[in-house]
Amino acid sequence: MTSNRTDTKPATGKRKETILSGMQPTGTGALHVGNLEGALRNWVELQEEYWMYCCIVDLHALTADWQDTKQMKDRVFQVAVDYLAGGLDPDKCAIFVQSEVPQHAELHLIFSMLITVPTLTRLPTYREKKNDLDSYGFLGYPVLQAADICLYNAHKVPVGKDQEKHVWLAKDLAERFNTTYRKVFNLPEALFREVPLILGSDGRKMSKSYDNHIPIEFTEKQTEKRIKSFFTDPNKKFQGDPGNPDKCPIFALHRVYTPGAAQEIAPPCRTGELGCVDCKMRLAGNLNDALRPVRDRRTELIQDPGFVWDVLRTGGERARERAANTMEKVRDAMKINYRKSKKK
Ligand code: TRP
Repeated sequence: MTSNRTDTKPATGKRKETILSGMQPTGTGALHVGNLEGALRNWVELQEEYWMYCCIVDLHALTADWQDTKQMKDRVFQVAVDYLAGGLDPDKCAIFVQSEVPQHAELHLIFSMLITVPTLTRLPTYREKKNDLDSYGFLGYPVLQAADICLYNAHKVPVGKDQEKHVWLAKDLAERFNTTYRKVFNLPEALFREVPLILGSDGRKMSKSYDNHIPIEFTEKQTEKRIKSFFTDPNKKFQGDPGNPDKCPIFALHRVYTPGAAQEIAPPCRTGELGCVDCKMRLAGNLNDALRPVRDRRTELIQDPGFVWDVLRTGGERARERAANTMEKVRDAMKINYRKSKKK
């Protein structure tokens, strides 16, 4: 399929604003059920209405994995596969790798002049990990994220609540740049969606780093096994004990994957009629049914790596075009566009 898209002029009157979103290629690289339901399904809807740039932020991943880089290529590939399997359409949205667009690093450096070190050390995301990660690069993580967002002049950034401060910081940096030099940037806003809370096997937020997740790439059997290992309401110890679905990560998943969960699962759990094993098996069945098309597409894509890398190459070309355009404006505004003719 070819596309008539040009990034400066929407093909339809509808698609006017730009969205930038990103995911890190960390862990095994592949996404899990939480990423799929919490983020990706939303992006798939947004690509119909916005100019979407979906970035695989490998430079951000370096902040944690700077020593062990040999797996980065495969991780990047796996995220691209998941993006495509989850329904992102390369004709509607530019899917690309951050480090293949050098302007991210360039704008990061310029932005780094406009923010103080204490502002960065106060951020909760920094404080949480500063004992393990105290590099200059890690401190600048949100500055790089601001560069990601502003480089495409994004209006909206679909993120989870944990990223709210980072988007706010991007807005602040855009504003500082505009007032210090000249208006170049839109002021980006976070785009939150009512997403189902997806908890992992231990009852905490589902996350690769807690190893409590259900990767999309799991087989149906592996999925079943992982689901069987989930915590449930700790007060429901034996079959027949009444349970509290509101305290159960399995019920949180039923809400997503089992139509009518509130009527069909919650009441018999509360009375004790529905045991945890049965409840988990029903979930595993429904979850596997829902993921089957995504997994089938995944399998196809893995067998065609050339296609996946082509998508990333084309996406990178589009992204670089737009990024170069923004950097021209940045240099003009800063009066460091030395070789440009006088007119501008
Ligand atoms: N920090 C984001 C996360 O951990 C990833 C990210 C990097 C991002 N750059 C971005 C998200 C730009 C949105 C926009 O989830």
